[in-house]
Amino acid sequence: MKKLIGLKKIKTAVFISGTGSNLKNLIKFSKTKTSPILIKLIISNNKKAKGLKYSTQYNIEKKIVNFNNNFSENKILDYINKKNIKFVCLAGFMKVLSKNFIKKFKGKIVNIHPSLLPKYKGLNTHKRALKNKEKFSGCTVHYVTIKLDSGKIILQKKVKIKKKDTVNSLKKKVLKKEHQLYPSAIRKIFS
Ligand code: GRF
Repeated sequence: MKKLIGLKKIKTAVFISGTGSNLKNLIKFSKTKTSPILIKLIISNNKKAKGLKYSTQYNIEKKIVNFNNNFSENKILDYINKKNIKFVCLAGFMKVLSKNFIKKFKGKIVNIHPSLLPKYKGLNTHKRALKNKEKFSGCTVHYVTIKLDSGKIILQKKVKIKKKDTVNSLKKKVLKKEHQLYPSAIRKIFS
């Protein structure tokens, strides 16, 4: 019976470029009995991404894809098809995927962003939120569409910005919330 439940989980790929704390968190989540997803593939555009260590630690296949040529996304599609991946989570993935790729996976790619979208799309979110003296920041899980950080919002979590907060302290606070938010958003999608 346990095995049957395991088989029903949706095979998922996580795309990363850096530290991979969200990746680690998603792997742990995906191993819980009630998770709707199971992580089967890690894709990184950066061979030095620290998060790649979780591939070894959790015995999950990884592929490093050089995004400097037009064939790279076709390679990813090959890997994804071979592993029967049906869902993609972007987690600190710093490359913009092509229209073609996003269209092929429409409604099946989500991203986590460190701001309360639609505020602060793009990079340096914490720096900009602090500069604008925002009282709150937070994180958002949203569907990926052709327009950067603009797809339908699935869930958000807020954090309070204190006067003494710096880019680093805010980043830490938001990241902690991200680790709660991503699993909740995935549950919401598949509920
Ligand atoms: C997170 O803040 C995420 O919201 C953003 O990039 C960061 C990735 O952190 N897209 P990590 O690699 O998951 O630790």
